Amino acid sequence: MFKQLVAIAALVGISQSALAVEEVNLYSARKEALIKPLLDKFTKQTGIAVNLITGKADALLKRMQIEGKNSPADLLITTDAGRLHRAKAAGLTAAIESASLDKLVPASYRDGEKHWYGLSLRARPIVYVTDKVDPQSLSTYSALSDTKWKGRICIRSSNNIYNQSLVASMIAHNGVDATESWAKAFVKNFARPPKGGDRDQVKAAAAGMCDIAIVNTYYLAAMLESKNAKEQAAAKKVAVFWPDQDGNGTHVNVSGAAIMKAAKHKANAIKLIEYLASDAAQAWYAKTNGEYPIRDSIAISDTLKSWGSFKKDDLQLDLLGKYNPDAVRLMDRAGWR
Ligand SMILES: [Fe+2]
Repeated sequence: MFKQLVAIAALVGISQSALAVEEVNLYSARKEALIKPLLDKFTKQTGIAVNLITGKADALLKRMQIEGKNSPADLLITTDAGRLHRAKAAGLTAAIESASLDKLVPASYRDGEKHWYGLSLRARPIVYVTDKVDPQSLSTYSALSDTKWKGRICIRSSNNIYNQSLVASMIAHNGVDATESWAKAFVKNFARPPKGGDRDQVKAAAAGMCDIAIVNTYYLAAMLESKNAKEQAAAKKVAVFWPDQDGNGTHVNVSGAAIMKAAKHKANAIKLIEYLASDAAQAWYAKTNGEYPIRDSIAISDTLKSWGSFKKDDLQLDLLGKYNPDAVRLMDRAGWR
């Protein structure tokens, strides 16, 4: 059959290599539903098949380290700049040369040495129970160390990279000492020992366990749009407060992509990342994932619109990786479990 195809190809002038199946192997920490439709569109448009392996972010990273040079992975898509930095620090990634990505992805949302590029944006604001908290009493992340919040704050554990990255951003802005003093006082205001994910903090606040929480925006969006009536009701009890609007801006982070040093389909991997950064893919993210696009020119969902526009912290996000070890140690010293 193949010989016949080659013969036909020769007749009609197609080169033999064009008959080979073009493919790319993707390891993704994003749930299949949050990436597969885009990959299908990419395959339709380019003819490049995407072999998708999904897994939990930290487990995928470990798997790649064990597989080493023999890893089939051409690229990794994962959440949080802190994790992308870990892949780079582990020596797994290579610089990506793409003038088009340099144009599509704002400089603060990519690695300074081009080892990873952000593809969607998430903010980590304060949410507050509307019938208990006057938003006038809120201002900055730093102000959450005030004793007036004693026993009123829900937040997940310090094991979680989202909190590590938030603290890393504070270290980048204010230094380790000031951030540590803050963390020590902040932890004293916790309503309960940290447990659960971001959604659980919203549920706890709605159930009266605490008055404010710090959560990633897409969780709240998903709860508000949820078919689960209880989840939706919990989310409706809180509102978003954008902290630090008169200062550095609200902490944002990315999910993004890195190309493996050992990639065997490097060109296809770059094409896939370029596709994911394109206007069409960005619009899909904004509508379907409840995340923010990486460029302001792309339309966002009605849920995101309802929270209004806000000033984002424009910190160079590779700094979140740089300060991650400091953040982890600092949170431990502060007793943030
Ligand atoms: Fe998440």
